[in-house]
Amino acid sequence: MDTVRMEGKPVAEKLYQAIRSEVMDLKRHGIVPCLAVILVGDNPASVSYVTAKERTCEELGMRSVDLRLAPHVTTEELISKIQELNADASVHGILVQLPLPEHIDSRKVLFAIDAAKDVDGFLPYSAGLLMTGQPGFVPCTPAGVMEMLDYYQIPLQGKHAVVVGRSLTVGKPLALLLLDRHCTLSVCHSRTPDLGTITRQADILVAAVGRPQLIRGDMVKEGAVVIDVGVNRIDDPTKPRGFRLVGDTVHAELLGKVSYLTPVPGGVGPMTIAMLMKNTLTAALKSHSTG
Ligand code: GUN
Repeated sequence: MDTVRMEGKPVAEKLYQAIRSEVMDLKRHGIVPCLAVILVGDNPASVSYVTAKERTCEELGMRSVDLRLAPHVTTEELISKIQELNADASVHGILVQLPLPEHIDSRKVLFAIDAAKDVDGFLPYSAGLLMTGQPGFVPCTPAGVMEMLDYYQIPLQGKHAVVVGRSLTVGKPLALLLLDRHCTLSVCHSRTPDLGTITRQADILVAAVGRPQLIRGDMVKEGAVVIDVGVNRIDDPTKPRGFRLVGDTVHAELLGKVSYLTPVPGGVGPMTIAMLMKNTLTAALKSHSTG
């Protein structure tokens, strides 16, 4: 079977076209959508994500506020920065890049973000809206996965979706989104025994467990749709940066067996930023309509 490469870029580009025109409309009303990004320390993966977020804001005509803080910043100092951003009406979205250093109480920091500016959708209020089927900020990666499934016209109703991973950022919200679209759902994780018995039943398999190449060719059903959310850095001295990126699945073993597969990089990755931009625009639109 030919495997379709499910690229994120065309899906993200389509969204960007719509976002650009809405940003122009808002600007006519004197509002420039603005995302504040807080990065603590200089973790290379985080620096590269944050830089990409800021660059995309600029490309879309949005504003970004870039706060780069030293690794020894305290929980209280970080919370005080967030409170300033909460009070600033020109800032519509606040994102704290995760993971934070160990000495910082991440829960307290995230709780400090105003729910109206929770463009990451990580706050309990946003999670509660999603759980109860009401509109709100949906975490960007799972929202992006749903956009991709729709763009590639993957039927969902009655299909068995298996999500491997139960994180707050991907697995749990994605499970709710797939349920909402009438999938039959299984959620597995790193402690699920005999994982392959369950993943082999999947019409739609989402690997979001953060274990490099955990899902092998013999763990998927012929013709399945496979969404690989994993972004793992593997040491590789032959590469210019000394590493290469691999997903949570072994692509060489899945190609030719599954019907669709998202590449790593270039699959889900571009969608996460696209949905963040969409959430920021939504926050700006709401602030406009509520004054
Ligand atoms: N670190 C890795 N992915 C994300 C994300 O989507 N949001 C935040 N805030 N941090 C991350």
